[in-house]
Amino acid sequence: MNASNASRVLLGAGFAIGLLAVSSGPAGAGQSPITQQQLKQYDDAFMAEVRKGDLLFHGDAAMAKQMGVNLSNTGMACAMCHPMAADTHPGSFPKFQTTVGKFSALRDMINWCIEKPSQGEQIDTDSGAMKALEAYIYWSNSGSVLDTGKH
Ligand code: HEC
Repeated sequence: MNASNASRVLLGAGFAIGLLAVSSGPAGAGQSPITQQQLKQYDDAFMAEVRKGDLLFHGDAAMAKQMGVNLSNTGMACAMCHPMAADTHPGSFPKFQTTVGKFSALRDMINWCIEKPSQGEQIDTDSGAMKALEAYIYWSNSGSVLDTGKH
């Protein structure tokens, strides 16, 4: 075998090893696959946010205080107008939201509902409270169709 054939064999072997690494698990690219224990940790982390959002959505004063937000000054919690997060249609965002008057993500609509019907104080779109509210709304609508831009 001459030198150039040898390098072709080596290249071929390297390619095969690369394929093996990619196909060895869902994480691929040399990472080790996700373990059941890690999956549980990720799920627990998600559900912890859903629970915080659930409390905020239902007007829990202690959680609002803990997260430093004032979502309503009318005594009306989100859940009074949106029982079980009904009619929040998270899968329809982003879309041009005529009520807000601009192309809006779910968080923009949440802030509109805080400021207008609830007469509360808008929250930082990157805040923990916003992420928790989104987590609760998305979780409540799990299984619904993603249909962005729909009115
Ligand atoms: C007093 C009743 C009321 C309260 C309280 C209220 N909302 Fe709403 N919400 C509405 C109405 C009315 C609309 C429809 C607005 C529109 O599309 O013109 C709406 C729409 C929404 C939508 C968008 C639905 C869509 O299909 O575009 C989201 C998301 C939402 N609200 C979240 C919240 C959250 C989160 C809270 C609590 C912070 C809240 N709402 C509190 C009345 C309320």
